[in-house]
Amino acid sequence: MVQIREQLTIEPMREADVPAVQIIERDIFSTPWPRNAYYRELASRNSAHYIVLRKDEEIVGYAGMWRMYDEAHVTTIGVRHDVQHSGYGRVLFAALVQAAYDMGAKWVTLEVRTSNDNAMRMYEAFGFKVIGRRKGYYTDNGEDAIVMWSDSIYSPRFRRAFEENLNRIQTEVQGLRPELTHEA
Ligand SMILES: CC(C)(COP(=O)(O)OP(=O)(O)OC[C@H]1O[C@@H](n2cnc3c(N)ncnc32)[C@H](O)[C@@H]1OP(=O)(O)O)[C@@H](O)C(=O)NCCC(=O)NCCS
Repeated sequence: MVQIREQLTIEPMREADVPAVQIIERDIFSTPWPRNAYYRELASRNSAHYIVLRKDEEIVGYAGMWRMYDEAHVTTIGVRHDVQHSGYGRVLFAALVQAAYDMGAKWVTLEVRTSNDNAMRMYEAFGFKVIGRRKGYYTDNGEDAIVMWSDSIYSPRFRRAFEENLNRIQTEVQGLRPELTHEA
């Protein structure tokens, strides 16, 4: 585990960030999104929440979520390949969970490739559970998707897992406001 001592900032993704996000994405995903998909998402301000994580000004990761009624759906999350497993994914995912509280969602769902053990381990550490499988969901190789969900994000179990992840973040992160979760 690499110690993080840099200046970390979570910010809303802006159109100007999309090229940097796409460079990361093309390197880590087999089916990257076209640029217009990002612009469309960023224009949907009422339902969509997209963020970037900057380390000393440079984007090292990004993530996105859609709100549909009571559900917040994680659409994407990625960390630059050379700095993966340094704690940045946890910071990004914590920021998404925070956003789910802020948006008034009751639970969070996501899909993950069956082969993606690393991501699944991270989601499980946040209290996510497997609830199903979508056969052949990923069109590039026909891989199944594992569907995970959070249960109520207000349940003591989920809050505890969230707190534990926040406690594991060694550096203060600008833009991550964990104190808000205590209010609802
Ligand atoms: C999945 C991803 C976002 C996680 O971000 P990350 O910065 O690498 O993860 P973190 O360092 O914050 O680790 C959080 C947890 O994830 C799991 N994990 C992440 N990378 C791992 C690795 N290489 N080996 C084992 N576990 C790993 C671990 O449970 C880890 O907790 P730990 O520190 O107790 O071991 C990142 O690895 C990534 O971008 N992967 C490629 C894209 C992708 O798969 N996105 C998710 C699609 S659903």
